[in-house]
Amino acid sequence: MKKDVENFYYLLHPRPVVLICSGNEKINIMACSWITPVSEEPPMIAISLWKEGYTCKLIESCKEFTVNIPSIDLIKAVWIAGTKSGKNVDKIALTGLKLSPSKKIKVPIIEDCIGHLECKLSKSLEVGECNLYVGEVLAAYAKEELLEKGLWSENAKVLLHSGGKIFTIPSKLTTVRI
Ligand SMILES: Cc1cc2nc3c(=O)[nH]c(=O)nc-3n(C[C@H](O)[C@H](O)[C@H](O)COP(=O)(O)O)c2cc1C
Repeated sequence: MKKDVENFYYLLHPRPVVLICSGNEKINIMACSWITPVSEEPPMIAISLWKEGYTCKLIESCKEFTVNIPSIDLIKAVWIAGTKSGKNVDKIALTGLKLSPSKKIKVPIIEDCIGHLECKLSKSLEVGECNLYVGEVLAAYAKEELLEKGLWSENAKVLLHSGGKIFTIPSKLTTVRI
């Protein structure tokens, strides 16, 4: 027996949740789980953001953003970044996260995160209540000790969003043997 679900997109969770950082003088962060790679050559990702959010305005004005990958240690900061708007509060001050300069773009990275993508806005597309932003990845790097042959190890405790207030982490990596 299969039942209809209320939120179709939760069938596509758990999925990584990241912190998107953008802005010029005033830097802001938001939580985002609607993120996906879309091309390898050139390296591109896409993020889908609610049009009315502050981050949309910032990305449209500075045309750059960083994608910062948190481990489970940052779960509270992720929740704050995902439930408050930079229109009203300074989320960097509120979370206590530390910003560091990026390698290729002006927008900073969040030092406390375990991996980073520096992105230049390439294309945008209106989709329903969201804007889909396609970003070219100009730099990508991560904590070396948490990688195993270029993949996140279990030690990375990469934060995945299950839905609502529920999060999880990958607990058992399995190698396919055929
Ligand atoms: C785990 C989690 C994932 C989220 N994913 C997205 C997302 O993919 N797209 C989006 O527009 N909002 C998402 N949100 C909601 C935004 O982070 C939220 O609206 C935030 O207040 C926007 O901040 P801003 O106005 O400073 O840009 C998510 C929230 C949480 C808690």
